[in-house]
Amino acid sequence: MTTLERAEAAEHAMSQELDRVVVKSVIYTSGERDPRVPAPRPPDSGKLYMMGQDPRLPQMPARPTLMDFFKYRFGPANHLLQSARLAQKSGASEKVILACLVHDIAIAGFIRGDHGYWAAQLLEPYVDEEVSWAIRYHQALRFYADEAVGYRYPELYSKLFGPDYKPDAYIERDYKMAREHKWYMTSRLICVNDLYAFDPNVHVELDDFTDIVGRNFKQPKEGLGWDASPAAHMWRTIMCPTKYL
Ligand SMILES: [Fe+2]
Ligand SMILES: [Fe+2]
Repeated sequence: MTTLERAEAAEHAMSQELDRVVVKSVIYTSGERDPRVPAPRPPDSGKLYMMGQDPRLPQMPARPTLMDFFKYRFGPANHLLQSARLAQKSGASEKVILACLVHDIAIAGFIRGDHGYWAAQLLEPYVDEEVSWAIRYHQALRFYADEAVGYRYPELYSKLFGPDYKPDAYIERDYKMAREHKWYMTSRLICVNDLYAFDPNVHVELDDFTDIVGRNFKQPKEGLGWDASPAAHMWRTIMCPTKYL
């Protein structure tokens, strides 16, 4: 068996243990497999297909809040909590603190590539426009220094992407636009607090931000994902990532 065949066999065995058949979306496997080739269908064993919450995941409450997504669907949020705490300590506004708290939720629970754009889209219906704008453009601003506010190009990026890495043209275009925008500094402050928020020894509690989230995040009464906002489907996908349709 090749590595891929072994992985597929293991996955098949795992899905056999579930009551429902799980088929992964192409985006999860693209690269590991050629997306042009049809994915192997699990043998029809009379089971029904997954159409709700995956039993392998912690179950979300009926009307989930942003905090529930932090607790049950986002990876360790230490980086986000630390950056929000740094913003708070520096006397930043609640808008900036909230923006720091949620700036990387796409990495924490959705899709990494273009994470700033995804996070902005997830949040847009529920936060002040300045907050989602700042989160969208932190994606580009992260790659460009602003010495005046003490922001240098992250050393981490040189390690991760190599010393000669050049951002894509669309990132440079968006950086130039954001640089001239009236909300530039809001977005830049995300980057400033981002830079020093990777300390494994600092622990911050999510509950410390309950009030700020309460005042600045418009929690839909139906629950995040069950409302009719233009981003609700994205929250549902985070809630039920293995849903067949
Ligand atoms: Fe980020
Ligand atoms: Fe970050």
